[in-house]
Amino acid sequence: MKTILTGIRANSVLTLGNYLGALLPMVRLANKYSEEMNVNIFVPDLHSIVGEIDGDLQDNILRTLKYYLAAGLQVNKNVHIYRQSFIPAHSEICWILNCVATMGEMSRMTQYKEKSEGKSSCNVGIFDYPVLMAGDILLYSAEYVPVGEDQFQHVELARNIAERFNHRFGEVFVLPKTTDEQVKFMGSESGVRIRDLSNPEKKMSKSTVAAGSKIMLDDEPARAAKKIMSATTDSFGEVQYDIQERPGISNLLRILSLVTDKPIEAVIDRWAGETRYGELKKEVAEAVSGMLADFQAKLTTVSDTEVFELLSVGEEYARGVAEKKLLEVQKAVGLR
Ligand code: TYM
Repeated sequence: MKTILTGIRANSVLTLGNYLGALLPMVRLANKYSEEMNVNIFVPDLHSIVGEIDGDLQDNILRTLKYYLAAGLQVNKNVHIYRQSFIPAHSEICWILNCVATMGEMSRMTQYKEKSEGKSSCNVGIFDYPVLMAGDILLYSAEYVPVGEDQFQHVELARNIAERFNHRFGEVFVLPKTTDEQVKFMGSESGVRIRDLSNPEKKMSKSTVAAGSKIMLDDEPARAAKKIMSATTDSFGEVQYDIQERPGISNLLRILSLVTDKPIEAVIDRWAGETRYGELKKEVAEAVSGMLADFQAKLTTVSDTEVFELLSVGEEYARGVAEKKLLEVQKAVGLR
């Protein structure tokens, strides 16, 4: 059986970017394929401690898992939920893969360059982060890894490391699909990158300080609507989808398409040429605030007990799969 796998760090409450770029696509794919594929959803808590944690990590982990259920994830016997640090094989395979990854390819990782830029010192975890992520994927032979556009480079790295390992030590790993194939599987034409509302050149990020820049999943719906109404657009005076030249307005069109589950082409057709940006903003604000109100109401119905029960079954399953693959890897490199 093929495997779809994804993870979201639990550093804070998530943003609308996490929701539209990764959480919602994963829930839709899981509900579509979980009769015929394994669906692995995990919290990379070891990745979380690389950076600052806003709030209590345990609370954040629990809440992040609840988000999937609130977003409509239907759980059956093929859907597995677990925490990375509860499966020690993740840390161990990371070391082995460190001995296959090269300094050159790791130094080219955009996220590492952005996070370390201008800093006099940065922890080794920030640098090694993508190798731990490669292990997350390869331990479970995951072919499909639904993530936002900012993580595509890391999935490609996992594929490259797996290919090199197989070449050197024999066919041990299943390669995750190429970016093009991942995007096609997710049912879109390109990856999703939700932009910062005040500075749409940048992606919407948990770590941005300015509150108006990002919509958090626990924002009051009316507050989220206000942020959309104040989003930076442009002075062209006519709606056009052009992410390079008109990132602000294009971001709003993209958000509208994802929240309403309509193809981007249909949304563009409806709004192209429109001169009243306020009208578009109003429609996006209503769609987002409605979505948040529904989501937050559902979140209150998901209990801690439900999540802990899923974790207990999911972690037993994950440990079994991961340990089996780790042993194969250890044998291939001569450790066993
Ligand atoms: P993380 O926790 O930074 O982000 C979680 C997911 O949210 C997506 N995302 C966005 N998508 C669209 N627009 C945005 N503005 C936006 N911001 C975040 C990310 O692309 C991601 O899919 N390294 C990963 C976590 C991870 C992982 C894995 C994922 C660890 N191991 C194995 C998949 C498979 C990360 O830091 O994501």
